[in-house]
Amino acid sequence: MNDKQSTQQHSRPQTMLTEPVGQVGGRVRVPGDKSISHRALLLGALADGTTVVHGFLPGDDCLATMAALREMGVNIVQSNATTVHIDGVGLQGLTAPAAPLNMGNSGTAMRLFAGLLSGQDFDAEMIGDASLMQRPMERVAEPLRMMGAGITTANDAGHPPLTITGGRSLTGIEYAMPVASAQVKSAILLAGLYAAGRTTVIEPAVTRDHTERMLAQFGHPAQCAGGRVTLMSGRGLTGTRIDVPGDLSSAAFFILAGSIAGRGELVLENIGLNPTRTGILDIFNLMGADLTVADSDLTEGERSGTIIVRPAQLKGIEVPAGLVPLAIDEFPLVFIAAALAEGRTVISGAEELRHKESDRISVMVAGLRVLGVDIEERPDGAVIHGGPLSGGEIDCAGDHRVAMAFAVAGIVAQAPIRILDTANVATSFPEFVADARAIGMSLEAVDG
Ligand code: S3P
Repeated sequence: MNDKQSTQQHSRPQTMLTEPVGQVGGRVRVPGDKSISHRALLLGALADGTTVVHGFLPGDDCLATMAALREMGVNIVQSNATTVHIDGVGLQGLTAPAAPLNMGNSGTAMRLFAGLLSGQDFDAEMIGDASLMQRPMERVAEPLRMMGAGITTANDAGHPPLTITGGRSLTGIEYAMPVASAQVKSAILLAGLYAAGRTTVIEPAVTRDHTERMLAQFGHPAQCAGGRVTLMSGRGLTGTRIDVPGDLSSAAFFILAGSIAGRGELVLENIGLNPTRTGILDIFNLMGADLTVADSDLTEGERSGTIIVRPAQLKGIEVPAGLVPLAIDEFPLVFIAAALAEGRTVISGAEELRHKESDRISVMVAGLRVLGVDIEERPDGAVIHGGPLSGGEIDCAGDHRVAMAFAVAGIVAQAPIRILDTANVATSFPEFVADARAIGMSLEAVDG
């Protein structure tokens, strides 16, 4: 974190306070998709010519990616918060950064840059905040080493800092990923742009395919079929225009809000509906939510549309394990939905949640217990019995999505919920409190 970012962080409110409300409603847009915003910056920087990004997410995570690219000589101008102009430097045009690159809270930034930096002719080091410095990086380092990259992690657990030695010649590999990870897939594909020959990634389960879609938009398509993604190197990227839809992962907080509120109708416009991301809609539908998707439109490679939400009594389900990678970032909300549902919900096959911005299984279990929920923790998920929520004080462990999920729970909790350590909400949804209030939630952010 550079000085400017850390000053901003410390001056931000740290605690969110909720009050129950009976109704939420209205029309709302949420900020741009985080995954797509990162990729637009990275591919735009590596392209020949200018790329203009509309609907960019100006959250701390994407700003960390932007700052790192600037450190490597890329001229990037934000003509307003959500419109970004990138003067691409071409695949060989990045220059050595003067200092370690700070990825803040962003696992996506660190893992995608690991692939990109493996193909450069200079050395680089990547660090991050306290959460990121505890996250597993061997999952990207190992396949990149197989391609010839010079990359080290810090300790036996494979944590950052990551050091990357430049000037290596990379060779394409065929790699079957042991975990379903779009970040790992994307890191390998980015390295594949620099590797001799063909690079193939085989997925154990479908993961988000924004990189593949965007590579095609930049004129460098990958072949995707049967869980295999193959990229042939040898050509450059061409600058383009990217329209970033609203982030379904951010919209999901309001989808649950509209479902659990007693009254009101909520219309969420221009939301990304990429089928590799819509598992949360399937899960909420299985739980009995009343959701309508309208105006679904495929523009420039990414589907988007309107989601209309009406209140519904949710019921407990066994969450199909196949939906886990397609809803991986929304599980804090699945825990909250389950706690409010009639009956019992079983979450399994979700061990990956332990490796996110926090250990989302243990943090959600601890928080829901504070609110009086009957919940059993399992290594790969939890069993949750629905019932009323009390109020209480929640430690979200600095995890943005956990913080926002408990803020939504506050709509129907019997007493206020006080959520601590929430500054990182700004990593993915800087205007969350204002937008939540706009739909009628009673939410306040205070210092301390
Ligand atoms: C992301 C992929 C997911 C997700 C993360 C963003 C991406 O991680 O959890 O928030 O942009 O590629 P994994 O691919 O590691 O599961």
